[in-house]
Amino acid sequence: MDTKIESIKELIREEFFGESTGHDWYHIERVYKNALKIQEKEGGNRDIIAYAALLHDIADHKFVENHEAETERRIKEILGGASVSSDIIAEVLHIAQNISYKGANVENKIRSLEGMIVQDADRLDAIGAIGVARAFAYGGSKKRAIYLPEEKPTLHEDFESYKNDEGHTINHFYEKLLLLKDRMNTQTGKEIAQQRHDFMQGFLVQFYAEWEAK
Ligand code: ADP
Ligand code: NI
Repeated sequence: MDTKIESIKELIREEFFGESTGHDWYHIERVYKNALKIQEKEGGNRDIIAYAALLHDIADHKFVENHEAETERRIKEILGGASVSSDIIAEVLHIAQNISYKGANVENKIRSLEGMIVQDADRLDAIGAIGVARAFAYGGSKKRAIYLPEEKPTLHEDFESYKNDEGHTINHFYEKLLLLKDRMNTQTGKEIAQQRHDFMQGFLVQFYAEWEAK
């Protein structure tokens, strides 16, 4: 076991444990495990992937005002404190600053293989059974309705409008979750995503049937 990675894992576990909007420690742990699993097939530097998975939500734009600067400050503080090299810190920073989904029609700026892998792992955790659970947990934390049939989804052209959208949670499936399968970066990610995607579609079929009292 790499002791630097283990100590950062411990630090992040303490900071994120019990968070209740779907960004809790277990989300981070799942992203970490899935990213390392994808790496076994796709290659890439395991240290960068491990650090980036553990630190990718350290200053999420949904909870922190100045996402870019705060991400940089925290990552330099944590990795610098563990004497990680500046080259690796720069790679991890690129990933943490660009990993987020920013709207259906907004360009993805992730460039490195390691970044593509961690982004795939993060996105896998937004779909499937866990994705469904996290979407409603997040929607509930923002006091949003489960479903308002009269409000249709929007395919956002820019991050501001995506971020400020306060629609019901079923819309989030059409604005993000169902789009992720075709936006996976790696072949391994695509294969895992397909099965989780099919599950979500089945969930929606059942949801609408129950809604209509069928
Ligand atoms: P990303 O990892 O791409 O940055 P987010 O951090 O935006 O994703 O989202 C984290 C979790 O919260 C995901 O499971 C996501 O689907 C959910 N979520 C984000 N925005 C919404 C929303 N408007 N309604 C419901 N769930 C949301
Ligand atoms: Ni995440």
